[in-house]
This record gives sequence, C-alpha cells and structure tokens, in this order.
Amino acid sequence: MATPPGPRLPALAQALRYVRDPLGFLIGLQRRHGDVFSVSFPFFGRVVYVASPELVKEVFTGSPAIFHAGEANATVLEPALGPNSVLTLDDEPHMRQRKLLLPPFHGERIRRYGELIREITLREMESWPVGEPFALRPHTQRITLTVILRAVFGIEDEARVTRAETLVDEFSKRVDRITRYPMLRRNLGRFAPWAQFQRARAALDEFIYEEIDLRRSDEAAAEREDVLSLLLRARHDDGSSMGDEELRDELLTVVGAGHETTATALAWAMERLLRNPSVLRRLRESIAAGEDDYLDATIKETLRARPVILDVARKLAGPATVGGYALERGAFVMPAIAALHYREDLFPDPDEFRPERFLEGATENYAWIPFGGGVRRCIGAAFAEYEMRVVLRAILERAELRAPDPKPEKVKVRNITLAPGKGCRVSLSRPLR
Ligand code: HEM
Repeated sequence: MATPPGPRLPALAQALRYVRDPLGFLIGLQRRHGDVFSVSFPFFGRVVYVASPELVKEVFTGSPAIFHAGEANATVLEPALGPNSVLTLDDEPHMRQRKLLLPPFHGERIRRYGELIREITLREMESWPVGEPFALRPHTQRITLTVILRAVFGIEDEARVTRAETLVDEFSKRVDRITRYPMLRRNLGRFAPWAQFQRARAALDEFIYEEIDLRRSDEAAAEREDVLSLLLRARHDDGSSMGDEELRDELLTVVGAGHETTATALAWAMERLLRNPSVLRRLRESIAAGEDDYLDATIKETLRARPVILDVARKLAGPATVGGYALERGAFVMPAIAALHYREDLFPDPDEFRPERFLEGATENYAWIPFGGGVRRCIGAAFAEYEMRVVLRAILERAELRAPDPKPEKVKVRNITLAPGKGCRVSLSRPLR
C-alpha cells in the first residue's frame, strides 16, 4: 500500500530531529512534501501528517467513530489521567463527559473569574526581582496553576492551595518521564520512575478526593461558582450525576491540559513581544486606551507563531482514505498545527510576528488551529484566551520588562508542549508601577 512521501531516515534519527528543532522539522517537511507526508517514530511507527486546511477539515470533521483521538491520546496520557478522562475516551463515553465539561468553560461563564485571575497575577508579580534576570515561565505557571486550583477546584484556604501546588508539581515532574519513555511504565523497584510516579499520583488523588468531599458537604454548594461545584450539580442525559472517580479524572485532566499549556503560551507572548518593540508599543497604547482588539490579535499571533501543541493525533479505528491515501486501521493521522501556521499562502511572511494579520480580515477556516478541532476541540480554549488577556494586561500595565539577551529563544520540547528554551528570560527595568 502506498504511503505518503517523507524522510526515509531511521525512526530514532527522525525523533532526534523532531526534538532538536520541532517547529523547523514540521515546517520543513510541509515545504518539501506538501499537504500530506509521513514520518517514522519509535513506538508509533509511520504516522501520517496532514498540513492543508482541506485535509485538516477532513480529519476534524471525519466520523469520530473512525478518527479516534482518545485512543491516540491514551498511548501517552492514560496512566496519568485515568480511564474516565475526556481526553482519553472515544465515541459515546467521550461525548458523555464532554457535554458536562463544556458549559462550565463557556466564554460567558469564565468572565466571572477575571478579578480572581488579575489578583493572582498581581500577587505573583510582587515576587519579581528588580534589575536581575529571571525566567518568566515558572511564574506564569504558578499563576495558571493557582487559577485552576481556585477557579476550577474552588479551593479558598491558602494552606490547601499551597499543598495542592506542591502535590501537582511533584506529580508533573514524575509524569514527564513516564509519558516520554513508555518502557519505564513497569515495576522496576521502589525507587524506579514508575513507583515514584504511582506515589505522587496516590498523594494527589487523596487530596482531590478530599476536595470533592469538602465541596459535596458544603452547605453553600448550590450557590458556588467554581467548576467542581458546577460539575457536582450537572447531570448526564440519563439523569445520573458524576461519580467521585469520574470527577477525579476530569479534574486531573483540566490540571494536566490547562496549566502548563496556558503558562507556556503566556511566556511565548512575552518572549515575542520583547523582540518586537513596535508590536509591544502598539499593544501598550491600546491597553492604555482600554481596548481589547489588539491584545486579542497578539494572543492569536502568539499561538500561531509559537503553537504550544505542535500536532494533534487521531488513531484510525477502521480503514479511511486521507489525502488520496488508503490508510489501515491503527494508523495515526496528525493535523500538523505548526506546519499550517507557517504556510506562506495562509499566513504571508510567516516568520514575522504581526498581530495585525488577525485584524485585517478573517483567517481561512482550519488554518489557525492551536486548539485542535471538531468534536475534540480544546474545551479550555475560551478560558485560556481570556486568562491570557487578563494576565498580559496586568503584566503590561504594571511591569517594565526587557530581554537581557535579544536573541530569540529556541523552541524546546517540554512535557508535550513547545516551550521557550530559556523559559523566557526577562528582567524588570524598574520597580512595579
Ligand atoms: C493556550 C492554552 C491551551 C492550548 C494551546 C490547548 C490546546 C489543546 C489541544 C491542541 C487539544 C487537542 C484538540 C484535538 O485533539 O483536536 C486540547 C484538548 C483539550 N484541552 Fe486544551 N489547550 C489549552 C488550554 C486548556 C485549558 C485552560 C483547559 C481547561 C481548563 C484545557 C482543556 C482541554 C481538554 C479537556 C481537552 C480535551 C478535549 C476533548 O478531547 O474533547 N485546555 N487542548
């Protein structure tokens, strides 16, 4: 059976090229081979990438019974997120979870968290040293994690927020290795990565179950606005409510999918802004004038030029034809987010950081896809964009930041995200306003 064109190097060599320069790797393959190409990776075999709006639309709107995202995601994420996670399920069970999770993250609803997000940002900024270079990403990560713990979990007690932060940090550290190297997912002794991961997961689980109990027994449960309380009040189509294990898996999914991604996108926004002074100037002016349009366009341009997730996966649950190629059951098909975002015909001068392109007219459908698409489109997309807007506004209003090294930071694979190589090094030119 014919396979789409692609490099013929051994799988390991291709994986190394991917890790060394993930953006350049995908962009280069699209420029060389066109709309559909294939790459061999260790563990996954030969995967098929699609990199045109037409083909991406075919995949995103193809039958969810054939284009399984859950099965594809589970290869990497199942041990961390559990069997009920919206990310790792398919078909009816997936839609069952997705239906309950969507409403709490709806655009209108999340605006209620604006004040909270701003407060958390300003508080975190107090810890920034003046005149001394530091990496911004750990700080944006602290902000996005605290936002999830307070807005999604609804934790109010300071000490419990701190405890949760420690548990999530430990869990993320342990999860990284076992998602990256599936061969470590077995019992190799008490101090081996798998055992360390299981201990971290058990400690975090215990904490999450305590929170679920606390929220269930809260007398004011009916009035609470945190996502956990909303989920406790939600009902499936058959009238049943979510059980503790279902809630645990979804809460962990939101932590896993929601905090590093948004933190990294925020770090990239500042990294790009500090290297494009005219954009930064225009953005400051528009913020001072109380406008949101240019800020929104800057966020969109950041997610175009530095998509936090390089590609998304679908595993075929039956045969399908994609881009004229007949593919067998079990094949991986991947919309190549980064490659689309750098197509000259879709985004002229793609190497330029130019938010104006998002103000000048509509972008072609299925061309800008940092949040994936179809029935699997990111549930937190509106939340992430809104959070980025509030955090960036607070930072730009109060802080005068500069980049100690004007060279663009390299794109580095971090967990499953693409992060700035040095974590976005900045320094405060003067005390906060
Ligand atoms: C800039 C930040 C973010 C980026 C770039 C991002 C990106 C993505 C991408 C690419 C997918 C896969 C879509 C697909 O397979 O087609 C996804 C799925 C998902 N994301 Fe996000 N995400 C972000 C923030 C968030 C936040 C803040 C939350 C939660 C509050 C969240 C929750 C989810 C969930 C639950 C899914 C699974 C959806 C499903 O399979 O039905 N994400 N995200």
